[in-house]
Amino acid sequence: MDGAAPRVLVVGATGELGTHAVHGLLARGARPAVAGRDTARLEALALRTGCPALAIDAYDLDGCARAAPWAAAALGGLDGVLVAVGIPAFGTADSVPDAVAEHLMTVNALCPMAVLRAAVPVVRDGGFLAAITGAIVETPLTGTADYAAAKSALSCWLGVVSREVRRRGVDVVDARLPHMDTGFAARAVSGSPPRLPAAADPATEVAALLDGLLGHLRRRAVR
Ligand SMILES: NC(=O)c1ccc[n+]([C@@H]2O[C@H](COP(=O)([O-])OP(=O)(O)OC[C@H]3O[C@@H](n4cnc5c(N)ncnc54)[C@H](OP(=O)(O)O)[C@@H]3O)[C@@H](O)[C@H]2O)c1
Repeated sequence: MDGAAPRVLVVGATGELGTHAVHGLLARGARPAVAGRDTARLEALALRTGCPALAIDAYDLDGCARAAPWAAAALGGLDGVLVAVGIPAFGTADSVPDAVAEHLMTVNALCPMAVLRAAVPVVRDGGFLAAITGAIVETPLTGTADYAAAKSALSCWLGVVSREVRRRGVDVVDARLPHMDTGFAARAVSGSPPRLPAAADPATEVAALLDGLLGHLRRRAVR
């Protein structure tokens, strides 16, 4: 980074953690571009923050792939991407309909992969590509098989991409955040959550994540 404001795309900016990230980036002097599905929340966020905004839906993977090139055009380049898109479902594996399993794989794995895949050639050398996976990839609870599997697929993918872009100094971050009280579990497509651990504070978790991502940009100050 050469002192200019970091240009960061936040996908899932309409969600609780995504919105925390947008405000945290602005507070740290960055210039975010925001993408989200809920158009009313997206427009309100864009109005509040002045950030360029793009509507995306996980079921339109071509649209997801357009997000990073769009952000680079809107911001005049791209230093990093943070994906905070996700949806849970709960229940024993034998009780989860295949349509729900497909939905979880699409939103939690294919959508972030499509966004970040298209961001690889767009993000500058020394930038970052990040997605929030979750502590669930390390400790998958019973009753979360399909959600945990989708997040683990994304986590594995990020690990491989990390090695593929290492020479360019691009930091690929698999953010395994703990359970937080954002209402996420209550928005499950189906089923009710198992007993969850004590909730961590979302603001604290997002702040630590952003400090790590922007710290990487400062250390790799090349444009
Ligand atoms: N909260 C936790 O305890 C926790 C813990 C670890 C990891 N995570 C991960 O953190 C991320 C954000 O979670 P959160 O707590 O902020 O929950 P949230 O408020 O429900 O945010 C979820 C985000 O995913 C988006 N989304 C859902 N379905 C979509 C679809 N079909 N197409 C496009 N976007 C879609 C939502 O978009 P709209 O709002 O525009 O519909 C929203 O931006 C998720 O990946 C979650 O798995 C959460």
